[in-house]
This record gives sequence, C-alpha cells and structure tokens, in this order.
Amino acid sequence: MADTPVVPTHLGIIMDGNGRWAQKRSLPRTAGHLEGLKALKRVIREAADQGIGYITFYVFSTENWKRSEQEVSYLMHLLVSKLHGELAFYQKYGIRILVRGKIDALPVQVQQAIEQTVDATRNNTTITAILAINYGGRDEICRAVNDFIAQNPGKSISEDALCSAMPLPQIPCVDMIVRSANEKRLSNFLLWDSAYAELAFYEKLWPDWDASDVQQICEEYRQRVRKFGGVQ
Ligand code: IPE
Ligand code: IPE
Ligand code: MG
Repeated sequence: MADTPVVPTHLGIIMDGNGRWAQKRSLPRTAGHLEGLKALKRVIREAADQGIGYITFYVFSTENWKRSEQEVSYLMHLLVSKLHGELAFYQKYGIRILVRGKIDALPVQVQQAIEQTVDATRNNTTITAILAINYGGRDEICRAVNDFIAQNPGKSISEDALCSAMPLPQIPCVDMIVRSANEKRLSNFLLWDSAYAELAFYEKLWPDWDASDVQQICEEYRQRVRKFGGVQ
C-alpha cells in the first residue's frame, strides 16, 4: 500500500565533506570537523521545526579508525567537549540524545560523556537525535545475530527477531537517508534499516549545510511515492 509522506519520521544523514571544506580553505582537516558541528546544530533545529521526530547522524564509522592518529584523536576529543559543552543547547531545544554503534570500544572519556548526555536529555521530547558513533551497519547486524544466538541456541533467526535484537527497536526505521559532498554510497550506514529508505545525494559539503537544506530534503521527500513492494 502506498504511503503519503509529509516529512520523514526518521531522517538519516551521512555528513560528508568536512575534509574537502577545510582543504578548499587551506585549513587542516580538523577545522572542517569543527565547522561541521555548527552545521549539525543548524540542521537539527530546522529538522525539529519541520516536525521530523528522529534524526540519525553518521558521526564516526567503524572504518574511520583508518585515518591518521591525529585526526581520530581530534574527533574523539571533539565528541567529549561537544557532548558536554552543548548540553545547554540540547536542553533549550528539547533534543534527546541517543547513540548507536560499538560504544564499548570507544575511549572511556567518550563513553562517559555519552552516558551523561543520554541521561541528562532523556526527558526531552521535541526531537530525538541519534549519534552513530563507531558505527558500522555490518557490525551492528553481526552483533544482533550473535545476541540472538546466545539467547536462543539452536533456533533460526527471523526478520522480526532480528529487528527486535537490533539496538533501539522502539525507534522507527529510517524513512530517508541523505548524504552531502556528492558521494553516492551508504558507506556501511544503517544497512538493515535502509531496506526501503528513500535516498538523496547533495553536492554541498557538510559544513555549508543550513536550514534551507533540510527544507529541500523535506520537499524532495514529499515528491517520493513509497510503495514498499506494493502497487500504488
Ligand atoms: C565526514 O567528512 C566526517 C567524518 C567521516 C568523520 P570527511 O572527513 O569524510 O570529509 P572528506 O570526505 O574527506 O571531504
Ligand atoms: C562516511 O564517510 C562516514 C561518516 C560520515 C561518519 P566517509 O568519508 O568515511 O566514507 P567514504 O570512505 O568516503 O566511503
Ligand atoms: Mg568523507
């Protein structure tokens, strides 16, 4: 049966192009990451204004450890400082923070900052922002299957059982995934959930994103006809 989309209930964003943004300005790549955080704040506010309920940001992939030690450690420090430093922002705009990914493999300071922020924002209701940190779609599926096997030895897994074994089972599957910086791939993002997600790719580099990009995404989403294998 066809759906009539208004805005995506759950939007996924692959924030890409921070390095290129910095390179264009002869700045270190880290400057692009810092600027990217400002874009994240603009985008989240507009997403809330548009009535998007859930927004998942791809912050750090299971493959991003391949980057230089200096870049990885900058990103980890940035996470700690902005999770703590932006708490007033999350509270002011009613943003609940959740995370998904292999969190227990992150530096302990990052784990603590995550735990404190998730706890401090748990009663916020305007929008839920899910940060995908040390996130890999394949890793997530493997871990969910292994959890299922451990709890149900000898049983075969069904789609419903896998859905329940995935993290955040109460949160609706992503409706639309968008990516900045003109790359047209998923790079291991939300592989299970994206089965019927609408996809859109934009040229603009992530640090340049603002409210108008969220409006453009919502407009694009309204043009899509979701059929889920049925007939319109
Ligand atoms: C995305 O920007 C941020 C992360 C993956 C952490 P990039 O750092 O990948 O930027 P480009 O692709 O090099 O321009
Ligand atoms: C995907 O971007 C990961 C994040 C946005 C966190 P990458 O820049 O790492 O992806 P590839 O390497 O271009 O596919
Ligand atoms: Mg990139």
